[in-house]
Amino acid sequence: MKIGAQTPAVVTGAASGLGEATARMLAAAGAKVAVLDRDAARGPGVAAEIGGLFHETDVTDDASVRAALAAAAEAHGPARIAVNCAGIAPAARTVGRDGAHPMAVFEKVIAVNLVGTMRVMAEAAAAMATLDPLDGDGLRGVVVNTASVAAFEGQIGQAAYAASKGGVAALTLPAARDLARHGVRVCAIAPGLFGTPMLRGLPEDVQESLAKQVPFPARLGDPAEYAALVRFIVETDYMNGEVIRLDGAIRMGPQ
Ligand SMILES: NC(=O)c1ccc[n+]([C@@H]2O[C@H](COP(=O)([O-])OP(=O)(O)OC[C@H]3O[C@@H](n4cnc5c(N)ncnc54)[C@H](O)[C@@H]3O)[C@@H](O)[C@H]2O)c1
Repeated sequence: MKIGAQTPAVVTGAASGLGEATARMLAAAGAKVAVLDRDAARGPGVAAEIGGLFHETDVTDDASVRAALAAAAEAHGPARIAVNCAGIAPAARTVGRDGAHPMAVFEKVIAVNLVGTMRVMAEAAAAMATLDPLDGDGLRGVVVNTASVAAFEGQIGQAAYAASKGGVAALTLPAARDLARHGVRVCAIAPGLFGTPMLRGLPEDVQESLAKQVPFPARLGDPAEYAALVRFIVETDYMNGEVIRLDGAIRMGPQ
């Protein structure tokens, strides 16, 4: 799909980090972007800067997601591009200082990262399925989800996060198969270590030691590099059903 002038797009988690970089990239390419995030402090500023729309959205809530997609469709037309970047990454060990892993934490991470991704994808794709095809292949839309290298090498304290991201990775192929009849493609990106507020909050020396673990280039990823891969996926029509690592060849150790 060419990202043309006015192509409607929705990005969750777009108030910050990878989602924000993606929203900026899409807007710069001419798309009409809806910034969907629960962060009502940062989101409106990002949307204003890119000439887009902000809608306060909680991806764990059906009504909230439906209202957000409806508001985006009303303003820009139904989305042809949906990118899922909303996510959380609290750490907890299977058995920690206070005993067993709190199930409320585990369930929350699954609810946001996995169920939230599935909810936004399914709702957005259902709307895409009603649209006219854009080309001779019958393409109607593209969904990009965000997994993590933790889907494959979760570290100590990442059982919940890795389980949620493993789920996002695993659903990529069946979702692409489900949506083939509707002309909707689905891919996932599995980022390594990116310099977003999620990581920039760590002490400088921890960031440096993390960066040194990356074989090449030995630095944190730039959110713009994530956005560039989103663009590649959207614009490369034969790319479908795949989880793509974007990680400088890192393979995370236990901690
Ligand atoms: N930064 C990294 O190194 C890295 C690595 C691998 C995967 N990821 C994944 O990339 C995605 C983006 O991460 P980031 O680093 O940009 O983090 P970030 O914290 O900068 O941004 C995440 C955004 O998601 C939003 N969000 C959280 N819960 C939400 C909810 N319930 N509903 C709507 N919005 C919600 C937050 O408000 C925030 O704006 C996440 O899924 C994360 O797990 C990040």
